Amino acid sequence: MKHLSKLPNIETTIFTVMSGLANKHEAINLSQGFPNFKSDQKLIDLVSKAMNSGYNQYALMPGNMELREAIAKKFDLLYGSSYHPESEITITAGATQAIYDVITAFVRADDEVIIFKPAYDCYEPSIQINGGKPVSIQLKAPNYQVDWEEMKQKISSKTKMIIINTPHNPSGTIFSEADMLKLQEITKNTNIIVLSDEVYEHIVFDGEKHQSACLFPDLKSRSFITASFGKTFHNTGWKTGYCCAPKELMEEFRKIHQFNVFSVNHPVQKGLADYMQDPNTYLGLSEFFQEKRDLFLSLIIDSRFKFKPSQGTYFQVLDYSKITQEYDVDYAKRLTIENGLASIPLSVFNDNQLDNKVLRFCFAKTDDTLKKAGDILNEI
Ligand SMILES: Cc1ncc(COP(=O)(O)O)c(C=O)c1O
Repeated sequence: MKHLSKLPNIETTIFTVMSGLANKHEAINLSQGFPNFKSDQKLIDLVSKAMNSGYNQYALMPGNMELREAIAKKFDLLYGSSYHPESEITITAGATQAIYDVITAFVRADDEVIIFKPAYDCYEPSIQINGGKPVSIQLKAPNYQVDWEEMKQKISSKTKMIIINTPHNPSGTIFSEADMLKLQEITKNTNIIVLSDEVYEHIVFDGEKHQSACLFPDLKSRSFITASFGKTFHNTGWKTGYCCAPKELMEEFRKIHQFNVFSVNHPVQKGLADYMQDPNTYLGLSEFFQEKRDLFLSLIIDSRFKFKPSQGTYFQVLDYSKITQEYDVDYAKRLTIENGLASIPLSVFNDNQLDNKVLRFCFAKTDDTLKKAGDILNEI
């Protein structure tokens, strides 16, 4: 090639690969993380209403004010934590843009950013494109617990940022209060910024509580929280999210945001603002998805797949080591082509493609789809 690639190791993401394969072979697609059911008609109507009422020109650079106010109210209601809508909340084109801009605003050449593997796939390239160096910590299957002493060892004078993700995609584990307290203690009196990716904050099971970074005042003072309406309200295609941080941090974020997207889809923002006036729109999500998780697991309880029930997110990982010792990418492809069921192999999110013989299945699907998937898994 005539031009040297800035990201020479980046290939098409596994999500595109597996969804493409699922389409080609007409397989049930539990690979990519999106629902196959419609979001609430009321929300769709509110967005249409916003378009018909003239919310069709640029929104304010940090986002529609009513939406920022609704988010601020939500933080107060759920976590007793305050973010000022004027200066501490920004609406973004999905969490992906928020994550990219947080990293771009702070990470310079040779800065180190600690990430936990398996890691969501946008973290690493966003660090690298800014000249930063990802420093990864591999979490061990099947519990994916963080060894905080190990993390402490990885901190150096070059550590600029730590990225956490709870509830965690792809493992479906969550951080406990003790985890967050450890993180707070380790980063106390440092200049390290914490990027807390909380896109699944409303999907936590078995009565557990989401441990948002904003619940820990000292941690909050150096943290960005990133969130996604796509994940929360079943419309990933709208690509709308937000991030929150203390004012001084947010000021730097907005310097990037204003030249990256400037502002985000206005009618969607207005529709979301109206919809969120009723907290029940997001409060029932854990229960809704727990029923889906339980249905999926009850269907495969007698199969040869081993599992620990997901603690949060809408993903369930299944261990197939009793069935075959094939490389997980090969097995995921074979399962799609021969059995008609698409999933995501976890090795692609790991250090050195570590293969623990586990696949990730998305259960944000209609009961009918989950039943069909369960039948396939039972027959294997
Ligand atoms: C952990 C995690 N972070 C961020 C995102 C991106 O969210 P969005 O679609 O709002 O950009 C996803 C989407 O799958 C995710 O799973």
